[in-house]
Formats: sequence, structure tokens, C-alpha cells
Amino acid sequence: MLSWDEFDKTDEAEPAKGANAGHASEAAMDKLDSAGGAAALEARAVSANDSDAIARAKAALDKLDVAEGLAELEGSAARVAVDEKRMINCRADLNQLVPFKYDWAWQKYLDGCANHWMPQEVNMTTDIALWKDPEGLTDDERRIVLRNLGFFSTADSLVANNLVLAVYRLITNPECRQYILRQAFEEAIHTHAYQYCIESLGMDEGEIFNMYHEIPSVAKKAAWGLKYTRSISDPKFETGTVETDKELLRNLIAYYCVLEGIFFYCGFTQILSMGRRNKMTGVAEQFQYILRDESMHLNFGIDVINQIKIENPHLWDAEMKEEATQMILQGTQLEIEYARDTMPRGVLGMNAAMMEDYLKFIANRRLSQIGLKEEYPGTTNPFPWMSEIMDLKKEKNFFETRVIEYQTGGALSWD
Ligand SMILES: [Fe+2]
Ligand SMILES: [Fe+2]
Repeated sequence: MLSWDEFDKTDEAEPAKGANAGHASEAAMDKLDSAGGAAALEARAVSANDSDAIARAKAALDKLDVAEGLAELEGSAARVAVDEKRMINCRADLNQLVPFKYDWAWQKYLDGCANHWMPQEVNMTTDIALWKDPEGLTDDERRIVLRNLGFFSTADSLVANNLVLAVYRLITNPECRQYILRQAFEEAIHTHAYQYCIESLGMDEGEIFNMYHEIPSVAKKAAWGLKYTRSISDPKFETGTVETDKELLRNLIAYYCVLEGIFFYCGFTQILSMGRRNKMTGVAEQFQYILRDESMHLNFGIDVINQIKIENPHLWDAEMKEEATQMILQGTQLEIEYARDTMPRGVLGMNAAMMEDYLKFIANRRLSQIGLKEEYPGTTNPFPWMSEIMDLKKEKNFFETRVIEYQTGGALSWD
């Protein structure tokens, strides 16, 4: 039988055994302590008033190997210079946020924070009444609401998981990581918003959250995205070779340009069109906030991809360009199929053919944003109002009241 006395004995035995090994670390700790003044050593001296637990904590700090701990931080011996910073495969210390190299990333982090919002701020009362009224919406309109909540409720989780479990580790720049952390929280807010809509409207949660398994047009988009996160989500995956660097680039193109840049656009357009016709205005307002966040995610991703190309021109060869073009075209095709499935007939002043034109217009934008040739020449935008909603400057008035209310409402008081 074990007793606490035996544990104490083991603890006492340890320092003697490791005395030589611990010598260097004690010296390192002493060096830091003496640099910080004798006060630190004095504070750590065990006094008669200390409980056993406190005495053990102080003794453990005597054994802390500072040199070993710091050695784990690559390149930490020196202060970071801007020239050392790189998007991928950077060896400079990633815990030093400044000096900034990519001001655009830090600016996007600030802009994202300034746009903060929460789903509960949106009034859902009229949506609930309309959704529960058997005459409130047509079957085609209900199909649009259900399919889009089905797709988005899991799509934002796919994006968040890819960010946190794969991309964050591999992007080796602190200001970009700072934005990625902000983006990850926004994805959580988006998933919250969809759940809030589903719960408010009293929908069958199992049906909605399982659409990405059960509804082919939704499942195909999710499966396409998952294919590009599989290898880089492996904790053993490392960049640093042409092939693995290209694999990361493929992932960024798949998630930023296709998932967030194409797969969201049919649904956003449908729900916002509904709101413009004064139907499901609460859901539409949630989607409007989400679209504002998403257009910033997309722009950040485009900047990251283009910066990686600038720093690693050998990755952007003919083969990679062809592959990137194919990925965007495949994504466009899947979104066109989704448009047909969600709009078997004309509805809300739009139809699948108009949506197809819009998606080709969007695809041209995505191709040109990462320096590729447009593949749908002569396509025009049948929904110019969508660009207005996405244009943050024009949109500012629309959001002004709520955003300002939130920012002032969040202040703390010590009274
Ligand atoms: Fe999102
Ligand atoms: Fe996003």
C-alpha cells in the first residue's frame, strides 16, 4: 500500500541523484536571478512560515533548467529583425510580435476586433413568427433557409479546425498568427450564429447538422474541403521541402479561395436576397455580419498566399498554377451544383442560371486575386448589390449603430 511518506521519500531522493545534471541549470537560474537582483533569491528562500507545498514549489524552481527551456525556442538568442521574418519555414523567434513585417496582417487583426459582434444581439422575433406561420414562406424559400443553415453550420467548423489544427502551426509569423487567432474566434461566433438561428426557429438540429453527411450537394462541398486538410493536419507534417510547402499552399487555396471565397457565396446571396425582400430579416442580419467577417478572412488568405509566392517563387511553377486553377474551377462547379439543388425553380428574384453567372464572376475574381488567368471571360455580375454589402466603407452606416453600441457596452468599471 502506498503512503504519502513514500512519495516524500522519492521527492527527497531526486535532487541527490540529479545533482550533477542539475548543476548547469542552477547556474543559469542563478544568472537570471542575479541579473534580476538578490531580491529574487531572497524571495525564494524557504521560511519557517512556508507550508510543505510552498516549500516544494520553491525547491522545484531551484531545479528549473532555464537554458533548456529557452533552447526550445528556435532563434531566441537574439532580438528579431524584420528581415528574418518569413511566412513559412521561419527560424526567428515566433513569440516576438514586433517589429512588424506584414503591417496588413496586424491591421486586419485590428479591423476584425473593431467589427466584433455576437449573435444574441440580433432580434429573431419576426423570423420565428414567419417560420412558424404555415403561410409565411413558400416551400422553395424554406428549402433555401434549411439547406444553407445545414451547409454553414458545419462548414465554419471545418474552417476553424483547419485553422487551429493545421494552418496556425505552419504559418511561421506572429502577426499573421495574431490574425488567425482572431479569425478562429470569429469562426466560433459564426457557428454560434447558425446554432442560434436553428434553435430560435425550433428546427430539427439532428437533420440540420447532419446535412453534410446526408444531402449530396452539401456533402460534396464538405468532402472536397476535407481532402485538402487531411495531410497537413497530421501533427508530424512539416513544411520545408518543395512538396510539403506546396501542400500547405494547396490547403490555403482550398480554404481561403474556394471554401470561404466560393462555397459561401450562393448561400450568402440567397439569404441576403431574402432579407432585402423583408423575409427572415434576423437570419439575414446574422449572415450580413458573417459576410463582413468572411470578406476579411478571404482578403487575409489572398495576402498570405501572395506573400508566400513572393518569398518562395519556386513553388509557383506551371504545375502549381495549373493545379490552383483546377481547384478554383472544381470549387465553382460544386457551387453551381449546390445552386441548382437549392433553387430548383426561380425564387426571390433569382434563379440557378443567374447564380451560375454570379459564381463564374466570383471565380474570375479569385483567379485574378492570386495572379491566375480568368477562365470565364466576359462574365458580368448579376447581383451588383452583393458587392455593395461587402464593401466595408459603403456598409459602414448600416453597421455603425450596433458596432458602436457593442464597443462602448463592453467597457469595464471598477466602481
Ligand atoms: Fe465563418
Ligand atoms: Fe471564415
